[in-house]
Amino acid sequence: MGRIQLKQVKKAFGDVVVIPPLDLEIEDGEFVVFVGPSGCGKSTLLRLIAGLEDTTAGTIEIDGQDATGLPPAKRRLAMVFQSYALYPHMTVRKNIAFPMRMAKMSLQEQNSRIEAAAKALNLTDYLDRRPGQLSGGQRQRVAIGRAIVREPAAFLFDEPLSNLDAALRVGMRMEISELHKKLDTTMIYVTHDQVEAMTMADKIVVLQAGVIEQVGSPLELYRTPRNKFVAGFIGSPKMNLIEGPEAAKHNAATIGIRPEHLTVSPESGDWKGIVGVSEHLGSDTFFHVAVDGFAETVTVRAGGDVDLHYGDAIYLTPDHELIHRFDEKGLRIP
Ligand SMILES: Nc1ncnc2c1ncn2[C@@H]1O[C@H](COP(=O)(O)OP(=O)(O)OP(=O)(O)O)[C@@H](O)[C@H]1O
Ligand SMILES: [Mg+2]
Repeated sequence: MGRIQLKQVKKAFGDVVVIPPLDLEIEDGEFVVFVGPSGCGKSTLLRLIAGLEDTTAGTIEIDGQDATGLPPAKRRLAMVFQSYALYPHMTVRKNIAFPMRMAKMSLQEQNSRIEAAAKALNLTDYLDRRPGQLSGGQRQRVAIGRAIVREPAAFLFDEPLSNLDAALRVGMRMEISELHKKLDTTMIYVTHDQVEAMTMADKIVVLQAGVIEQVGSPLELYRTPRNKFVAGFIGSPKMNLIEGPEAAKHNAATIGIRPEHLTVSPESGDWKGIVGVSEHLGSDTFFHVAVDGFAETVTVRAGGDVDLHYGDAIYLTPDHELIHRFDEKGLRIP
C-alpha cells in the first residue's frame, strides 16, 4: 500500500512561505514526478512527505492514517538521494543490508531480500565489492537496493540521476521505470528535467514557486497545458509563445505552437521569415526563424536532412488544430 494524501500542507522557513497550502493525492502504485525550476520547492515537498521537514500547517496521510507527526522511520517510506550516501568501507551486500540490520531482521530474511534486490537491479555479481570499485550508475543502483529491501509503502527519489552522465541517465531512467513495473510500489520522483518527467511519470505535478500549476498525465500536460507556464515547461524544445497582432487574430493574448507542429516551405505558407541559427541533431533539425512582424523568434522542428541555411527566406505554417490560446492572465482559453 502507498496512498499519500496532502491536505492544505504548508511550509514556511521563518517568515518565508516556500509552499503555500496545497492539496495533492497520490494513488497506490502510481509513479508521480514533481517537476519545476530550481528553487520551486520540489525537494521541500518530498522532505515533508518523508518527514525530514516539519509541516507548518496541514496534514499528510499515508494509507488513510495521519502521518503528519510521525518521525521518518515510522512512515514506511524509503528515500533515495542524488548523492548515494553509501558507506565506503562496507561491501555492496553490507550496504544493502544496513537498514535491515538496524531493524534487527533475521539473517535468513536479510539474505533473501538482498538476493532479490540484487537480481532486480543486476547487482548480483557486485555484492562483494566496495562502493569505490563501482561506477556511478552501479552505486546509484546500490542506493536503490538499500531502499528496496525495506519494502517501503513508497519510494521517494530526489534527483537520483543528476550525478550521472547523459547516457547513463537514460539507462537508469529505464531501469527505474522497469523496477516500478516489477514492484508496483508508489514512487515519487523529483527532477527538474522535463524529459525525465515525460518519460517516467504516470502523473506529473508541475510546481512553480511552491504552487502546483497542473497535475496530469504526460500527454494531458503536453496537449492541454492549463497555463503559459506549463505550456513552456513541458515539451522540448519549448512551445513557441507568440503575442501581439498574430495572437489577437486568434482572439487571444498569447498563442502557442509547438516546434513539431509547424511546417516549413520555401514557397508559401502563413508566416514569412528568415532562417537563423539551426541545430542539427542528426535525426531532427531545429531551426530558429525570425518571422516578419513577430517579436519572438520561432523554433521549428524539421527532419534531419532538410536543406535550409542561415539567411534563407522561408514560410512557416502552423497546424491550426494545434494552436494553443492563452488569455492576458496566461490561462488557457478552452
Ligand atoms: N532550510 C531552509 N531554510 C530556508 N530556506 C530554505 C531551506 N530549504 C529550502 N529553502 C528554500 O526553499 C525554496 C525551495 O527549495 P527546494 O530545495 O525545495 O527547491 P527545489 O525545487 O528542490 O530546487 P532544486 O531544483 O534546485 O533542487 C528555495 O527558495 C530555498 O532557498
Ligand atoms: Mg531539490
